[in-house]
Amino acid sequence: MNKNPEKLCVIGDPVMHSISPLIHNFIYREKGINGLYEKIRVEKHELKNFVTSAKNGRWLGFNVTIPHKESILQFLSGLDSTARKTGAVNTVKLDSGRLIGFNTDVAGCELSLKSVIDNPLKNALIIGSGGATKAAVSALLNLGIPDITVLNRNMARAEKLSDFFRINSGAHIKTAGLQDKTFSDFTKHADIIINATPVGMWPDTENSVLQENCLLKQGAIVFDMVPRPAITTMLKRAEQSGAVTVSGLLMLIFQAAEAHKIWFGQDYDDNLIDEIKNYLFTKHRDTVQ
Ligand SMILES: NC(=O)c1ccc[n+]([C@@H]2O[C@H](COP(=O)([O-])OP(=O)(O)OC[C@H]3O[C@@H](n4cnc5c(N)ncnc54)[C@H](OP(=O)(O)O)[C@@H]3O)[C@@H](O)[C@H]2O)c1
Repeated sequence: MNKNPEKLCVIGDPVMHSISPLIHNFIYREKGINGLYEKIRVEKHELKNFVTSAKNGRWLGFNVTIPHKESILQFLSGLDSTARKTGAVNTVKLDSGRLIGFNTDVAGCELSLKSVIDNPLKNALIIGSGGATKAAVSALLNLGIPDITVLNRNMARAEKLSDFFRINSGAHIKTAGLQDKTFSDFTKHADIIINATPVGMWPDTENSVLQENCLLKQGAIVFDMVPRPAITTMLKRAEQSGAVTVSGLLMLIFQAAEAHKIWFGQDYDDNLIDEIKNYLFTKHRDTVQ
């Protein structure tokens, strides 16, 4: 008799554009796991109901995306140390009805940056102040990058994020409003520039936080966390200016492999990462490009 598949999902709003089911279901086929990973739209006011249904045993675990990465914390019974230090959760595991939160975005961000960093870097600029920015700050602190500036439209949110890291990690994160100076005044000194906003995400693909002719430091690394499309307008502009670019799709693959490790206890290697990339670019070219 066929056993029911292990059920997993990603919740968020919007979520229908998510590539995560393609990645996880590919891993299940590769590893011979009887699993099914879905995407479920959960609006802000529906989060509590979803958590109640999850506790009733339907899911082995789930990923959390926009806008729930911080609001999910109130419903969890425990956090791993990375999620605690980051103040945001993207992966939840059900453990005998208890919900435990993890943050694999941090490892995803760190591993993506490690793939291009050759020399020690001094400073980084992050645009945004949500859960993705928190993961980026944690990753940069892990990488030993001491000077981090966060730019956001809503200054109060940026200040709150900075306070969180001062209290929890003793780190001093600088903040500024997106409108404070011309953008180039910030970008021209930055070793690493990270977009942690949804600007440029499919279907809004013409948009970019990096304007044309924006000044970049020679050899700067530009990392767009937006995973779809793989090469965003921001990355195209950065490449034209000679920057080293990192795609959010790579981060998405790394964070998924890390979440898989948490749910199924299976480690991964670079081959699996390459196989996932290859699968997405050959079988789902229209989705990722
Ligand atoms: N590749 C990956 O694996 C990965 C992992 C995590 C997240 N991400 C991506 O990271 C992005 C942010 O996710 P999140 O969870 O941090 O979202 P979030 O908590 O909703 O935060 C979004 C941030 O973006 C800012 N923002 C939104 N629209 C903007 C606009 N038009 N102009 C300037 N700033 C804008 C918001 O500014 P205000 O505070 O002023 O509203 C806020 O700071 C998403 O695109 C997500 O797909 C990718």
